[in-house]
Amino acid sequence: MALRVGVVGGGQLARMMIAPAVELGVELSVLAEEAGMAASLAATAVGDYRDAEAVLAFARAVDVVTFDHEHVPQPVLRALVDAGVAVHPGPDALQFAQDKLVMRARLAELGMPQPDWAAVSDADQLQAFLDDHGGRAVVKTPRGGYDGKGVRVVSAATEAADWFAALAEDANGGALLVEELVDFTRELAQQVARRPSGEVLAYPVVETVQRDGVCAEVVAPAPHAGDRLVAVAADIGVSIAEGLGVTGMLAVELFETTDDRLLVNELAMRPHNSGHWSQDGAVTGQFEQHLRAVLDLPLGDTTPRAAWSVMVNILGGPSADTLDARFAAVMAAHPDAKVHTYGKAPRPGRKVGHVNVVGDELDDVMYQARAAASHFAD
Ligand SMILES: Nc1ncnc2c1ncn2[C@@H]1O[C@H](COP(=O)(O)OP(=O)(O)O)[C@@H](O)[C@H]1O
Ligand SMILES: [Mg+2]
Repeated sequence: MALRVGVVGGGQLARMMIAPAVELGVELSVLAEEAGMAASLAATAVGDYRDAEAVLAFARAVDVVTFDHEHVPQPVLRALVDAGVAVHPGPDALQFAQDKLVMRARLAELGMPQPDWAAVSDADQLQAFLDDHGGRAVVKTPRGGYDGKGVRVVSAATEAADWFAALAEDANGGALLVEELVDFTRELAQQVARRPSGEVLAYPVVETVQRDGVCAEVVAPAPHAGDRLVAVAADIGVSIAEGLGVTGMLAVELFETTDDRLLVNELAMRPHNSGHWSQDGAVTGQFEQHLRAVLDLPLGDTTPRAAWSVMVNILGGPSADTLDARFAAVMAAHPDAKVHTYGKAPRPGRKVGHVNVVGDELDDVMYQARAAASHFAD
C-alpha cells in the first residue's frame, strides 16, 4: 500500500508537494482551511487546524502528518502525538519555529550566533534596549508574523505602543522580542533535511533578497561564498536541526554582517521560499526531500544540477483574465524558464508564483529569471 502523508494547511507549499508525491507514489492529502486554496488539487478535507477533533480525524487516515505552515497550536499537536500519530516536525521542535522568543532563548543555550536580543514587556524595557544599542532596534511580535508583518524598525519605544497595548489584552501576557538592528551586507539561508532516524543533509547556502520584508529573489549557491562561509553555514544548519530535533526540511535565515559573521535571523520547519530554486536546480528538490524526510526514507542528493540557479518571486500578479496570455508570452520568450504558479487570486504584494532559471553564467541566469518574472508584473 502507498505511503500516506497528510499536510495540514492548503497553501502553496502543500501544493508544491503534490508533484513529487505523485512521482514517489506517495498518497498526499491536505487539510485545507477552505475550499479552492492553492493545494486544492490534493485537498481531501476542509477544516480548522486549531480544532483538535478536525485535525485528529484527518490524521487517522494517514501515516505521517506534516505542515504547510507553523500555526497549528501546541495542544492540537500534542493531541496528535498522544493519539499515536507520527507528526513531523514534532511539537517539541515546532515550538521553536512558532515563537521567536522561545527560539532566541533556545539558540542561546545551543551557543548559536545571534543578534543581541531581549524580551521586553513594556515601553521602559524597550527604551532601555534602544539606549544600549545606538537608539535604533528591530521589534518583533514573537508569534504569527510572516513576510515582514510583525517586524518593525523603531527609534523610540512609543513606536511599538500599539503592540504593547495588544499584549496587555492578551490573556497570556507575554512580551515582544527586540533585536539589535544588524548591519548586514546580505541575507543568506541555509537549508537542511533531517530524518527521524537521524540522517541529516545540507543544501548549499543561498543568498536571499528581501524587499519590504518579503522574499523577492534567491541565488543558489550564494555568490562569492568562500569555503569557510559555506562550511560555517552548513554547520549552523545541521547543529540547529540536531539540537532542536527537527524532522523534515529546516530553513535557517541568516545575516552576513559587515564584519564577516553569520547571525541566525529565524527558522522555518518546512519547505521554504529560499529553497524553491531546488525544484529545478538541485538533484533533489526541497518538496521531494521533505516528503522523504518525514517518511524516514533515505534522503536525496542535494547537489546543484548547474552552476547557478535564480528564483524570482511573482508578487501581486496579473488578474486571472490576462494570465493565460501572459503565460504564452513567457513561454515564447523564455523557453528555459520554469514557471511555478500557486493558483491564488492576485492581491498587491501577495506571492502568487515564482520563476526558476538555471545555467552556467550568473548574469545571464539572473537576467532570464527577472525578465521572465516581469511578464507577470501587475
Ligand atoms: N535584527 C534585524 N536587523 C536587521 N534587519 C532585520 C532584523 N530582523 C529582521 N530584519 C529584516 O526584516 C526581515 C523580516 O524579518 P523576519 O524576522 O525574518 O520576519 P518574517 O517572519 O516576517 O520573515 C528580514 O528578512 C530582514 O530583512
Ligand atoms: Mg523571515
